[in-house]
Amino acid sequence: MRILFSGRSMDSEPWVAALREALPDASVEAWSPGAAPADYAVVWMPPQQLFDEQRGLRAIFNAGAGVDALLSLALPEGVPIVRITDAGMAVQMAEFVAQAVIRHYRELDEYGRGISSGAWRTRPPRPRASFPVGIMGLGVLGARVAQTIGGFDFPVLGWSRTPRTVAGVACFSGPDGFHAFLARTRVVVCLLPLTPDTENILNRDTLSRLMPGGYVINVARGAHLVDEDLVALIDNGHLSGATLDVFRTEPLPADHPFWRCPAITITPHVSARTLHAESVAQIAGRILAFHRREPVGGVVDRARRY
Ligand SMILES: NC(=O)c1ccc[n+]([C@@H]2O[C@H](COP(=O)([O-])OP(=O)(O)OC[C@H]3O[C@@H](n4cnc5c(N)ncnc54)[C@H](OP(=O)(O)O)[C@@H]3O)[C@@H](O)[C@H]2O)c1
Repeated sequence: MRILFSGRSMDSEPWVAALREALPDASVEAWSPGAAPADYAVVWMPPQQLFDEQRGLRAIFNAGAGVDALLSLALPEGVPIVRITDAGMAVQMAEFVAQAVIRHYRELDEYGRGISSGAWRTRPPRPRASFPVGIMGLGVLGARVAQTIGGFDFPVLGWSRTPRTVAGVACFSGPDGFHAFLARTRVVVCLLPLTPDTENILNRDTLSRLMPGGYVINVARGAHLVDEDLVALIDNGHLSGATLDVFRTEPLPADHPFWRCPAITITPHVSARTLHAESVAQIAGRILAFHRREPVGGVVDRARRY
């Protein structure tokens, strides 16, 4: 079995070494133009040239959870794409979103500003019941986040493409359930895959439907959010702010208005990192299973694009 690795902005050497260790009977190499034909490719944002040259791939393994960048390439027809599912990302996403929700609800930024200017001043407690948290996307990450937020006794809502049941979560689905979900949500968390149906889904119309004082947490993809609509709704007071981990252009350009908006907290796409050891173990296990013609998890449905 021959495997090629190609990972933009990833150091190939540790990935190749770890895949060799996990798959001692396989030949594993970092891809370079003109590489000999391989059976499997393990990739993160690979160049189109890899697929133009490698016509005999039996499966493509995406070294991340989101496949939007991969699916934007011209991929060989009919070749299965397998993405990472969880592998240590769900707990990271749950802790990141929990801290963003709690920091907002408990007004910790306001306290921080007061304390740094020497002000010892308390604020009245706010009723938890008036901070319903709505999770867009109830998949591997969204369901874990919903359960974690519910553990802090916030009312939790969820929205998915098809009907889902998550214990303790008021579930909505499809376009028909979207407006009812938004109207009951104060803190919205985006954990959708980026597809033609979900691009620009956080826009002036949808964000205006959130409860007054709404707060936006985007940890999915920058292209889910219409940047100028968010800023306008914060400026006019309908929204109270946002925590954004993902952006249309990364790194976020120095002249972007988000940098100058004090109600927006920015992190550099770190809410759930791809963990090397966990990811290699999952990918190697799935390559072996696929090779033995056994079923594997994480197979992407190309028609629905996630
Ligand atoms: N910021 C980071 O560090 C980071 C890290 C990892 C992942 N991510 C992002 O998180 C995303 C979610 O990952 P995941 O593993 O949880 O994905 P997943 O398991 O595939 O779950 C996706 C969820 O979104 C729902 N959905 C898809 N299209 C929809 C639509 N048009 N309307 C309503 N709901 C829709 C799905 O509905 P169904 O349940 O009906 O299928 C599912 O519940 C990834 O695609 C990636 O972009 C970000």
